[in-house]
Parts: sequence; C-alpha cells; structure tokens
Amino acid sequence: MNNIVEKLNFSVDIEELRDYYNTVKTDFDHLLWSWERCGDTVVKQWRDAAYADPANLLTYGWAIQSNLKDITIPCPPWNISTHEITEYRNTELAFGIIEKLQKEIPHAYRWSISVQPPGGIVSVHSDQEDEYTVWIPIQSDGVVITFVTPEKTSGFSLESNGSAYLLDTTIPHHTHNFGNTDRVSIIFRINHKYVNELKRKVLSYLPVDIPVDLPSEQQIVNWFDNHKVEDTEYWEYKENRHTWAIVAARKNLDNWRKIDFDLWNTRRNLQENPELYFHPGFEEQFPSLVSAIKQLPFKQITYAGMLSQMGAIAAHQDTYDENNPLEPRRYNIYLTDPAYNTFYMCKEKNSEKVFPQIDNTYRCFAFNNTEVWHGAEPTHRTKIMIAITGIIDDDANQKLVSRSLEKFKDKALYL
Ligand SMILES: [Fe+2]
Ligand SMILES: [Fe+2]
Repeated sequence: MNNIVEKLNFSVDIEELRDYYNTVKTDFDHLLWSWERCGDTVVKQWRDAAYADPANLLTYGWAIQSNLKDITIPCPPWNISTHEITEYRNTELAFGIIEKLQKEIPHAYRWSISVQPPGGIVSVHSDQEDEYTVWIPIQSDGVVITFVTPEKTSGFSLESNGSAYLLDTTIPHHTHNFGNTDRVSIIFRINHKYVNELKRKVLSYLPVDIPVDLPSEQQIVNWFDNHKVEDTEYWEYKENRHTWAIVAARKNLDNWRKIDFDLWNTRRNLQENPELYFHPGFEEQFPSLVSAIKQLPFKQITYAGMLSQMGAIAAHQDTYDENNPLEPRRYNIYLTDPAYNTFYMCKEKNSEKVFPQIDNTYRCFAFNNTEVWHGAEPTHRTKIMIAITGIIDDDANQKLVSRSLEKFKDKALYL
C-alpha cells in the first residue's frame, strides 16, 4: 500500500447498514461479546494487556464470522479466545447487507462489528503481517484510529457515510474514542494478495444483453461515407479525433449532414413528448440497429451518431452529465470488426491501458465515464461505433446492467 489509509472506490448504503446494526442490537444480544461477559475466556497475554488499562474493557462487539468451534456462542471480534478454534465461518449474523458484501468481496474474512463506547481504548498493537483491514464505519466522529510510525503519529477520521477504508494495520496503531457517542464499524480482513482485486471494484465496461443482427462491415463503411457530416467545424474533427455521421435525433433535422449544435447542447435536457427520428433511409437499411438503439435504457435519446476514428484519442472522460445517472452510463455499439479494437479504458489518466473484450455478437456495450478514463490507440483501418446520448433512465439502466452482468460475467471489466 502507498498510504496507511486509503478510501476504497466503492461504498455501501449507509441507511441499510444502520438498519442492519439496529437489528443486530435488538435481536442478537446472545452473540454479543464483551469483556464483562466473556473476559474469562481470553488468552492470558491479551487479558493482561487489556486489564493493564481498564478503558480497554469498554470495547465490545459481534463476530459476524467466528473461528470458535461452536458458532452459537459469542466470539470476540479479535482472535483472542481460549475456546477451541478453527477457521472463520459465518454465524447467523451474516445476513442482509453483509451477505451482499460478502458476495462482492469473496476473499474478505473475519467479518465483525466493533463498538467502542466513549472513553474506550484499544492499546497500541499491530495486526497480522500478511493482512490488511477494511473498516466501514457505521457511526464515527473525530479521529477514529491513530497510526504510529518511527517518523510520526497520524490520526485518521473515517466518515460514516457508507465509505469503506483500507487500513495498513501491520503498522502499529491504537484507538481512543474521545467523542460522546459509540463508535461503530464493520471490520474485516483481507490478505495482501487480494488487495488489487478489492481495489478493482468499479464496473468499467460491460457488453449489454441486446442482440444486434449486424450488417456487413462494408455496408456500414459505405453508409458512413455517403451520409457523414459534411462540415468540418466541430472540435472532434479539428482535433483529429473522429468524424460524425448522424444516425438519430429527437427532432426531424432539416439537414442530416450537418451538426445541430442547439440540439447537441441541450441533449441532456428532458423534453415533453419527444419523438426519435432517424437519418432518412437508415431504418430501412439497418432495422436491427434501430431496434437495438430503441432498447437502450434511455428516458429519451436526443442524438445518436456513428463515429469513425481519425487519430489517436488520448485518455479522457466525456463531458459532465448534469443528470448524473448511475454508472455505467455511456452506451455505444461497436460496428466494425472488434478484432481490431483500439478502444481502451484505464483507471487513472496515465495508468495501464486495458482493452475490453468486445463481444462478437453483442456489440452494444456500456461503460463507466466518471470513475475511469477511456481513449483509443491509433487505428490502421476504418473503425466505426455508434454513440448514443440522451437522458438515462436509472431504473431501466440498472435492470439492463444486472441482466447483462449475469450473462457476461467473464467479459465485464472492473478497474
Ligand atoms: Fe488492530
Ligand atoms: Fe469519450
């Protein structure tokens, strides 16, 4: 890890997490572990260390996963019990949001809920060498954890808004609740070797479950050449990125071979009773593309165009979408032979370029436009895609994404 504490690039629904915690408090008192109730079953070394400062005895919690042979008795949220132990397994506390998170993060283990009441302390210690710790705070205020390195002592505040934090707990650390409310957190461990996987949690690219009966590449190229935008006064052309051919618009354009900048500039404004018009002749020639476009999860499509790549396109993010739909939110249809794909995605502007696997049959794809970057390497043959813009329908989008994830698990790209 580069930093002692890193905010992870996924978050959880904090309300759902709080509901979970409330249910645990009311219904699972029989699994609550505290020094008061269970202090007599703690190994001597930890017992002595804890009793040296009674503020240590305030912290309590629930082991969502227990390493005790008997998972029906309270297990300490730390590995300090004198009871017979085995590997960590789920207790009856692994339900709801935890169950969902466990599916998303299969290599995490030792899940627990830790509660540190006001005044509570966990004295300085360091955790197992090959593991990191993840905290998802449920309630927090002020400095939550303090790390001590030979150079300095650094306290970290971790927000309880659904954020998840990766902590390098191999570095000595201690906690002290100086606040007035219980500090509550979901805590789990993850082996160092799975940390990249944990960080690669943004769904960046996904083939979409809308079949396209694809015309031949030659038909596409011919149509493009005969219908492309004739003026060259648009920035994508001037910057040698791509040329446009307009496929569809929400108004019947006077001139389909000219960019309608008014329409373009208002493409994300919802309009009453819009219709979708296609470039004259397009529907007759490419009914399957029309059908695919109409199945995309938009409340309204405002503009769709074929783009033919010119030069290299540096890694970028597209213009801000003021409707801020859920990701992945950008829809394209790859038309020419994907064996020659030049489209790549990258986590950061200058990080490693990853070329998505374009499905040969399912050419519609969705990609993430805010948390990752995209660009294109130079192409040595004609490469044409359709880009579709408008106002995304979040519900329909999430449904389509879920359905597509089921179908294209292996081709989904997480960065
Ligand atoms: Fe620790
Ligand atoms: Fe782009």
